[in-house]
Amino acid sequence: METKQWAPIGVFDSGYGGLTILKALRALLPQYDWLYLGDNARAPYGSRSFDVVHKFTLQAVEYLFSAGAPLIIVACNTASAKALRTIQQQDLPCMEDPTKRVLGIIRPTVEALEQITHNKHIGILATEGTVASGSYPVEIEKLFSGFTISQEACPMWVPLVENGEAAGEGTDWFIRHHLTHLLQQDKAIDTILLACTHYPLLRAKIAQYLPEGISIVEQGTYVAPSLQDYLLRHPEMEQRLSKGGEVRYLTTESPETFSRKASIFVGESIMATHVVID
Ligand code: DGL
Repeated sequence: METKQWAPIGVFDSGYGGLTILKALRALLPQYDWLYLGDNARAPYGSRSFDVVHKFTLQAVEYLFSAGAPLIIVACNTASAKALRTIQQQDLPCMEDPTKRVLGIIRPTVEALEQITHNKHIGILATEGTVASGSYPVEIEKLFSGFTISQEACPMWVPLVENGEAAGEGTDWFIRHHLTHLLQQDKAIDTILLACTHYPLLRAKIAQYLPEGISIVEQGTYVAPSLQDYLLRHPEMEQRLSKGGEVRYLTTESPETFSRKASIFVGESIMATHVVID
C-alpha cells in the first residue's frame, strides 16, 4: 500500500507560546500530522522591529514549507501582526509553489469576541509589538461597531514564561502591575483577551488578580474551529495534508531544553530536533 508523503500542518511561534494553540488544534483535529517550530534562539519577538519580525517569520515559513508543510498557522500574535500580511501578499506569490498557505490567529480571535462580551468593553493584553501594530483595534473596528478597546503591553511576561517562571513568585508583581494599568484605562472591561500565545501559561495568576465577572479569552478555543472551518471550505488543501496523527517538534535552540520545558506545557513527554533556519 502506498504511504502518503509527510505533509503536516506547520505551526510556528517565536518560542513555547504556540504550544497552547497546537494543543487546541490537536484536540479538535487529531487526524492530521503537525510540525511545530519554535524560534527559541531568537525569542522574544515582542520588542523587535517590523523588519526583523518579518525576516524571522519568513525564514520560519520557508523552513516549514521545505520540511513538507503545505499549510502553516502562524501561532504568534506578534508575527501575525507584523509579518503575516506581507508574507501572504508579497512573499508567497513569488515562491516556487504559490498554492501553499499561511494563516494567522488574530482574525479568528476577533470574530469570536462579539459572542463573549456583554458590554463591548474589551481589554487586550499583548506584547509591545502587537500593541504598537494596532492590529487588534483595527480588526475589531473592521468587524464590529461600538466597541471600547483598551490595550496593555506586558513586555516581561514572555521572558518569564520562556524562562520557566510562569508559576514563580516574582511573576505575581508583573501580573498585578499590568492588570492594574489595563483596568485603570477602562473600569467597565468585561472581557480580557490574552492576545499573546504565551499568556495562557500565566492564566492561573491572571485569574487570581482579576475582579470577579471578567471573562478571560484564550485563543486556542477559537483558532481550532476556525482552522476546521477553513479545511472544510478548502478541500484542495485538506486533501494535500497527511493524516497520521503524528507531531514533530523543531527548535532553533537547545533541543534538550525545549523537550524538557515543552513537555511541561503539552502535558506529555516530547523530543525536539534542533534546526537552523537563517
Ligand atoms: N507568543 C507570541 C505572541 O503571541 C510572541 C511572544 C514574543 O516572542 O514576544 O505574540
